[in-house]
Amino acid sequence: MVDINFTPFPILTTERLTLRQLSIDDTQNIFALRSDAEINKYLDREPCKTIDDAINFIKKINYNVKNNNSIYWVISLTRTKTFVGTICLFDFSNEKNSCEIGYELMTKFQGQGIMKEAAQVVIDYVFQTLKVEKILAFTHYENQDSTNLLLKFNFVKSLETDKENPNLNIFTLAQ
Ligand SMILES: CC(C)(COP(=O)(O)OP(=O)(O)OC[C@H]1O[C@@H](n2cnc3c(N)ncnc32)[C@H](O)[C@@H]1OP(=O)(O)O)[C@@H](O)C(=O)NCCC(=O)NCCS
Repeated sequence: MVDINFTPFPILTTERLTLRQLSIDDTQNIFALRSDAEINKYLDREPCKTIDDAINFIKKINYNVKNNNSIYWVISLTRTKTFVGTICLFDFSNEKNSCEIGYELMTKFQGQGIMKEAAQVVIDYVFQTLKVEKILAFTHYENQDSTNLLLKFNFVKSLETDKENPNLNIFTLAQ
């Protein structure tokens, strides 16, 4: 794995999408995303309860990006600049030459192939730019939409589940 540096922030683009850095202007959308019961259904996280939770989350994310611990993109529609979701890479391991991927879409933007388009450009970025050789994804065994997405990219499901939460299947994509 080469040295990872997320400054300047790597903006990624696809046919329909711009993947850009999170900012304080995204507070309302982050609150909407992280307080939505349907989006959180299979996610092992503390939901946002207040706007302050969303502001603190944004600060924490950008601190981690600045320190090259993780990277987090807002997925927006290029034509209208609409915030439709997020995608991130975290838990970088030099030893295993790996990182983990996470993603979420506002419910009204699901079922349009948006995450497939975003994940493709992020996977290419991991393998070609970061030169990280393995991507892990942990997803709840009942989370069919997430599992379908991973299978589209030929992620392979491990026989073992997550030790801390056995409901999470572990998927791996190696270059
Ligand atoms: C996981 C998640 C991002 C998947 O979103 P998604 O919209 O189903 O994923 P995709 O972008 O791959 O879209 C696939 C769907 O779009 C349809 N589609 C429509 N237009 C398309 C196009 N131009 N290209 C590709 N697919 C298209 C596909 O047929 C497919 O629909 P189907 O599932 O009914 O067959 C979404 O369910 C989500 O945000 N869940 C909550 C958060 C979460 O659980 N995250 C995972 C954590 S591990």
